[in-house]
Amino acid sequence: MDNLDQIVSEAKAAFAAISDPDALEQVKARFLGKSGQITELLKGLGKLPPEEKKTAGAAINVAKTAVETALNERREAIRKAALEARLAEEALDVTLPGRAEVRGGLHPVTRTLERIESLFGSIGFEVADGPEIEEDFFNFTALNTPEDHPARSMHDTFYLQNPDGTLADKVLLRTHTSPIQARYMQAHVAKFAHLERMPEIRIIAPGRVYRVDSDATHSPMFHQVEGLWVGENVSFADLKGVIADFLKSFFETDDLTVRFRPSFFPFTEPSAEIDVAFMSGALKGRWLEIAGCGMVHPNVLKIAGIDPEKYTGFAFGFGPDRLTMLRYGVNDLRLFFEGDLRFLRQFA
Ligand code: DAH
Repeated sequence: MDNLDQIVSEAKAAFAAISDPDALEQVKARFLGKSGQITELLKGLGKLPPEEKKTAGAAINVAKTAVETALNERREAIRKAALEARLAEEALDVTLPGRAEVRGGLHPVTRTLERIESLFGSIGFEVADGPEIEEDFFNFTALNTPEDHPARSMHDTFYLQNPDGTLADKVLLRTHTSPIQARYMQAHVAKFAHLERMPEIRIIAPGRVYRVDSDATHSPMFHQVEGLWVGENVSFADLKGVIADFLKSFFETDDLTVRFRPSFFPFTEPSAEIDVAFMSGALKGRWLEIAGCGMVHPNVLKIAGIDPEKYTGFAFGFGPDRLTMLRYGVNDLRLFFEGDLRFLRQFA
């Protein structure tokens, strides 16, 4: 059966010479197709005498299997080669430099708020919070603000509407952080009602506030930080010391003077505006108003359930946006709220 060996080696050589899968299937037909060489031999079996049929048939089948095996191996080799070629072509160049991550940063006002929290935290003030949608009671009434006070007017305060357009029942966007004082005192009194001596209250309350106002130095939304210290024998001298110390730490200089200018707020008596003047730098010698403050009005203590004969306290309200402008030399408040990354990136 030399003929069979020859067919097998011919087939192997033919397959090996081909690297295109379609061409391979064409060549396969030459050996295994309808009139392929192997097929023809099988067809010829019928003509052989019965005693030769068996051995001849077995030998042809061995050759057929060998050709099929060679074909399958070649198919597999071609498939592998194609895959490798594709992998090589699509390979990633891991030595390329990566794309830089864009690094975020804190908003300058957030930086100021965090700084204020940490400075006051270091002298025992806790951070308190309250709702931005506030009740008239906490925003005004509990703070000793009369019914006819101009701050209560629609020109100054955003009142909330019901879905049908009518005014919601005394609900507004808080105009200052002072309602947090009222809320905190009320809760504090309830919490410690079982004690004869009320523990001191020492809080700051940063947050967003809203007023009907908009120009270079006023935004309808801005920030305030409220401060409150209530206890036995808390005095105006304590207020002055805390504020002066805070400002020196905040601006990182002893080269500033703090002035308490008599003023009026319904919720404090006496009341003052706090002005600061730097002794050097671009703003040298100019008085800048940065906060309101005063001794908590006895009525405010009373409404919260605190005995004004036993306890006194001071309160203050800072404008952290203003402090941020001063600290970084920014001259337009609106820049803080426009979200322009070219501006904000400078602080990141
Ligand atoms: N709530 C005042 C305002 O919005 C600021 C203020 C003044 C807060 C005096 C105080 C204070 O706690 O004692 O203008």
